[in-house]
Amino acid sequence: MKPIILDVDTGVDDALAIAYAVRSPELRLLGLTTCFGNVPVDEATRNTLYVLERLGSDAPVLQGAQEPLRRKRKEAVRHIHGEKGLGGVLDIAPARKAERQHAVDFIIEQVRKLPGQVTIVSVGPLTNLALAVQKDPGIAEWVDQVVIMGGAVRVPGNVTPHAEANIHSDPEAADTVFRSGLPITLVGLDVTLKTLLARDALAAWRRKDPELGGFLAEMTDFYIDFYESCLPGAGGCALHDPLAVGVAVSADFVTAEPLHVQVRLDGEELGRTGELPGGRPNMRVCLDVRADEFVKHFLSRVI
Ligand code: RIB
Ligand code: CA
Repeated sequence: MKPIILDVDTGVDDALAIAYAVRSPELRLLGLTTCFGNVPVDEATRNTLYVLERLGSDAPVLQGAQEPLRRKRKEAVRHIHGEKGLGGVLDIAPARKAERQHAVDFIIEQVRKLPGQVTIVSVGPLTNLALAVQKDPGIAEWVDQVVIMGGAVRVPGNVTPHAEANIHSDPEAADTVFRSGLPITLVGLDVTLKTLLARDALAAWRRKDPELGGFLAEMTDFYIDFYESCLPGAGGCALHDPLAVGVAVSADFVTAEPLHVQVRLDGEELGRTGELPGGRPNMRVCLDVRADEFVKHFLSRVI
């Protein structure tokens, strides 16, 4: 079992990624760290605790960054992830609280405790990870793998024509992480937009397990509505954050290439993740995905 830390800004697709991770026997969830992003960090923490409760998991939750490293935090994207971040689910009152330890200290502690073993799957802005390598740069050589949902290397962005949301939310954090020497696999829009969770799957979830399936379906319905408002006829939504978990479960879902990727820190291309041709590779970038195989696997696990 691979020990993992899942760093989230729980929104709808983060919640699906949490369900996938909790239900994957290949992974041992050491803890979930939270960051601002889709919603403010205290809401991301609340949502994470609630999703875990619905899944019957007692994995520890550790709250992290409230703000980007150097910029003002952007507004929550409630039109995409719902009023409270979990789509149409509004009654979100988890019984449990987050641990007292800060997310950044937890990341450093776990990597030091299990040298060479920990996989960090980051599916929100990279602020917690950037703060961890700034505080203890030595951890970079002791992390087994960092799987990042973020970036758009050979495709357009989703928040601007150039930038993907997680990187755009804190470009300086992404820049810090990309320069840190951490062993990164980038799961960006190049591959996540090739995945599709069809709306039909929601009816099947509701039938199979009215409790948990009903909860996940209510949440995801809202997210699919947003997708369809942008892409009429899409028939579903992309599985951005779940694909990062999928890559931690099995690298065979994707084809990746070693590349040097840089983040634009100013101008109209702010947050762009561009290749530096001929540059020394600083990560593996996923460029293709066996989408049907992955979606089938995801569906076989969550409910
Ligand atoms: O661009 C997709 C990413 O932005 C996902 O992590 C989603 O949850 C949002 O944060
Ligand atoms: Ca996310």
